[in-house]
Amino acid sequence: MTSTFTTSNAISGAEDVSARLLDSAAQLSYDPAQEVDWNEDLDPNLYGLNPQWSTLYGTKLWNEMTEEQRILLTRHEVCSIMSTGIWFEMILQQMVLRDQYCKDSSDSDFQFALTEIADECRHSIMFARACTKMGIRSYLPRRTSRELGRGFKALATAEAAYGGILVAEEVLDVMQRDWMRGENVLPLVRTTSKIHVVEESRHMTFARQQMRERIQGKSAARRKASALVVAIAARIIVSNMVNKGVYAAAGLDTERAVKEAKNNAHHHMMMRTSSEHLMAFLHDCGLVTKPAEAIYRRLHML
Ligand SMILES: [Fe+2]
Ligand SMILES: [Fe+2]
Repeated sequence: MTSTFTTSNAISGAEDVSARLLDSAAQLSYDPAQEVDWNEDLDPNLYGLNPQWSTLYGTKLWNEMTEEQRILLTRHEVCSIMSTGIWFEMILQQMVLRDQYCKDSSDSDFQFALTEIADECRHSIMFARACTKMGIRSYLPRRTSRELGRGFKALATAEAAYGGILVAEEVLDVMQRDWMRGENVLPLVRTTSKIHVVEESRHMTFARQQMRERIQGKSAARRKASALVVAIAARIIVSNMVNKGVYAAAGLDTERAVKEAKNNAHHHMMMRTSSEHLMAFLHDCGLVTKPAEAIYRRLHML
């Protein structure tokens, strides 16, 4: 049978991916209001995140801490990471909405992008409720980061925007895969992580596809500029994950804790192994240029 589509309205590779993602979203998506047991009491013996993911795990200071302090610290750390997640999801929603402005609504790309925005909106509410349940107020990124984020969400487009999105999603994904399985982790964190892991895996596929399509055939200068923007975005995201206020909240000396966390070889190793997949993809896209590589190394992502 002869196709009635012209070349311009034939379904592209990206649309094919988006159509599959829409099917998957229809089959398995969660309503956190129903899925999470919001009334369950918090077991005082359970951690906020697997101790291995704490920024102090493996340090001298960690060994000196009481078990109560460790539990309290990991709860503040997980709330800080969730707060940073909300901050980034707000940036992401605005970028995706801006990117889809006045595009063809019959495209599956358009429909999946809006599905993703709806997911992120539910995620942010879920993380906000989880922090409230743990009795911890939100941690905000540093002032300069908030302003850089404001610029990024207003100006970033194409592979730079989706690159920033992918970095945030990948880094969180690896941690949350451990949190959702952690037997010594609060069920509240395990369930919210499971929901996030399932729904974010589609977002990451979408971001990768968008990046591949939009970088194809672009000049070396454009690729270098995008590589730098994505690496700077990674730096802002990763450096704001755990707010230094978490240490005082656990009754620790902030200055000493920040210093030990910064030099924590165990945490550097966790960051490096969890970034392997992301770095391989960015490398394939030609987005690990020399200046970008220097930034990733300082972040211990390479
Ligand atoms: Fe999300
Ligand atoms: Fe996402």
